[in-house]
Parts: sequence; structure tokens; C-alpha cells
Amino acid sequence: MNFLDIISRKRDGQAHSLAELTEIAQGAASGDVPDYQLSAWLMAAFLNGMNTQETADLTRAMAESGDRVDLTGLEKPWVDKHSTGGVGDKTTLVLLPLLAACGLTVVKMSGRGLGITGGTVDKLESLPGMRLDLSPEEMKEQAARIGLALTGQTPRLAPADKALYALRDVTGTVANIPLITASILSKKIAGGAEVVVLDVKCGTGAFMRSLADANALKASLENVGEAAGLRVRAVVTDMDQPLGGAVGNALEVREAWRVLTPGTKLTPAELRFRGLVLGLASMTLGAAEVSGDPVRALDSGDALEKANDWLRAQGAAPSTLLQNWAAAPVVVPVPSPGGWLARLDARACGEIALDLGAGRRTKEDRIDHRVGLEIHAPVGTKFSAGETFVTVHAADEAAADRAVAVLTTEGEDTAVRWSKRAIATKPMILE
Ligand code: URA
Repeated sequence: MNFLDIISRKRDGQAHSLAELTEIAQGAASGDVPDYQLSAWLMAAFLNGMNTQETADLTRAMAESGDRVDLTGLEKPWVDKHSTGGVGDKTTLVLLPLLAACGLTVVKMSGRGLGITGGTVDKLESLPGMRLDLSPEEMKEQAARIGLALTGQTPRLAPADKALYALRDVTGTVANIPLITASILSKKIAGGAEVVVLDVKCGTGAFMRSLADANALKASLENVGEAAGLRVRAVVTDMDQPLGGAVGNALEVREAWRVLTPGTKLTPAELRFRGLVLGLASMTLGAAEVSGDPVRALDSGDALEKANDWLRAQGAAPSTLLQNWAAAPVVVPVPSPGGWLARLDARACGEIALDLGAGRRTKEDRIDHRVGLEIHAPVGTKFSAGETFVTVHAADEAAADRAVAVLTTEGEDTAVRWSKRAIATKPMILE
């Protein structure tokens, strides 16, 4: 098949056959189709769209572009979760051990962050010794032993997604529902999952800014996932403000362990995060048809014990986690002018964290795991004048000054806004 014909069909708004979509996925995975032709096709698909059948066929072709993990032998059902990405999203760090403590088997591949979106692998790498390069055999052995395993993305699973995502990232073609659907679900299918729980982020810090777009992505993931034989449950959750009380790798791991540790006096921002984790846990248990009590698993310390088993199994030392903290050298409290916090923009907080060194603008950038933002309470909270609402953790004074300047400037489109009156707040789970 001539690849130019494939590009022309999509340019002219026609639907692709499975054979054409397989040609695209195989060509991307093997490197046989040059980047300029793949990029041209991506832009045509972005502009002209793909119907449900095409999206399902592309998903299948991408899942079949490399190896498939065979989880045979592990206790069923095999569960995976995915978030479409946001700021301060450390859900996986708590949800995985919590689900394992409730009796599920969770095998997960996670990615690195790019731009304002953090990645679970980067967060876990703030733990000295943590191995995130497990082979499929190691994943299976560990999941059989302790109920969970997490590794970084391997080039052997869904290699078409790796190639296409890298091009989407630099051609302005990421925020497209069929392409996102195929990207996410092809990796879940290749990873061997049966039950998939999806957290579709919606708001300024997410790909999907409006509830209508987020709902459309949710429906696409559910329809295409079910057509591929997966049991899919999806929710739309708020990403207008960062999730929880921390943005930045080590800070987020610390927050996750605070939530996992029974008896910790959680801040209002951390409680909001805990609520989301518990909601996702209940939904996952329902989808897996397993009875379990996630609140009890957290409060009893069972989930913490699982989390510690997990870290130990992958080479990190859990007992030192909250004591030997790799703190950033410059820590600056940012005072409130007084009033109700009316906006703490997720995208702006992601940009601040990026500038502090918590994320990478290009794949080659190095991350400073120590830096980021500690958020003391969510939007809608009343602060008195002079009370700290955010603490900046920075590598040096100059970086801290830049962050403080952004957080203390007020205007129409600024990162932070204050109100003299109580404001209505959005729920964490929107749909
Ligand atoms: N997450 C993915 O894995 N792929 C996308 O395209 C977007 C978010």
C-alpha cells in the first residue's frame, strides 16, 4: 500500500480500513514510514477525525505492533488504571497498594512526565534504589507474590504508540480524542489488562479543558475499550486546580505516604486527594466484582503494608521515607493577603513546578526531584492575612523568587485569585 494514498484518504476526510490502520501502526513501530509522512497523517487525522470503528481498529493495530504481556497464572481479574494526566496526580502511588490490599492483582506500566504533566516513574525515582525496569517475567513473579508490580514503559509493548506519541508531542496533535483513545487503550491491551479504570482529567491542567470534551473522551474510551473486550470504568475529575497537597516528585511521594499512613493528620488538600483515591478504589472493586473495603484497608494500615512490600520488592527502603527526607535547599512560605482562595490554576502551578525543575520541557531535560509546591488547602478555603497558602521548595533563591512572584501577582488571568466572599467549589469527581 502506498503511504501517500493513506495520507490522501484522511486529508480528504475518508474513513480508513483496518488494513490501512495496520499499515500506519506497523510503519510507525518499524520506522519504515518516515516521520514527515506520519506527521502529515497525524495532522490529517487530527483535523478530520476518525469514527468509532477506525478508532477501535487503530487501537487494535497499535496493541499488536509489539509484544503482549501474558498474565496467565496470576489471580484474576487483572486490573490496570490510567489517568489522562494532570498536575500533582500521584493517585497511582496510593491506589495500587490499596487495591492490592483489597485482594486485587494490579500490573501496571507507567510513563514519565513531559511538560506540566507529571509522570509516575519520575515520582518513584525520587526513592533511592527503586527499580522501574522490571522485565515481564519479574512483573509476573512480583504480582503473584505481593499483588502488585509497576514498571516504566518498555519499547517492546505498543511501540507504535511510542513513535506516534513522540511525533504528536512536537506536531500539535496530542489533544485529539481518537488518537488519545488509541494511545491509552493500545498500551492497556498490550499490558494484559482485563479491567481498566480510567481517570479522565478535565480543566486547565489537562488536555481536555471543557466538561463536554472530557465526557466525549470518557465515552470514546468506554466504547472502544468495551469493543476490545476490556471491562472499562471511567470518571471525569477536576483538574482546574492541582490534585492534593503537593506538586513535584519527592513531595508527591511524601504526600502519598502521608495518605497511606493511618493516623496522619491530613490537610484539607490531602483529604480531597484521599477522597478521589477512595472513589477510584470503590469503582475498581465494583468493576472487578470483588468485595473489599478500601476505607478499612487504608485505616488499618493494610494498604501501607502493601506499599512497603512494593517498595522493598522493587529495591527501595520504605522505613526511611518520611524521616530521611530529601528536602530542597530553599523553602519559602507564601502568605495569603486574606480571603477565600478563588483560583489556584493547575496549568500555572504546573508551569511553576516546571520552572523550579520538577518537570522536563524536552525528553532530555533532567529533573530535580526535591523541588515543587506544597499546597496547604484547596480552592474555596478561607485564609487569614499572612497565613501560608503555598510553600515553595526550590533549588536556589532565584528560582524561589520567580515562583513567589507568580503566586503573589493578582489579575484577571493570574495563577491565583482571592475573593472577599465564600465561593462555590467544584466537586472532585465531575462525572
Ligand atoms: N496519555 C496517553 O497515554 N496518551 C495520550 O495520547 C494522552 C495521554
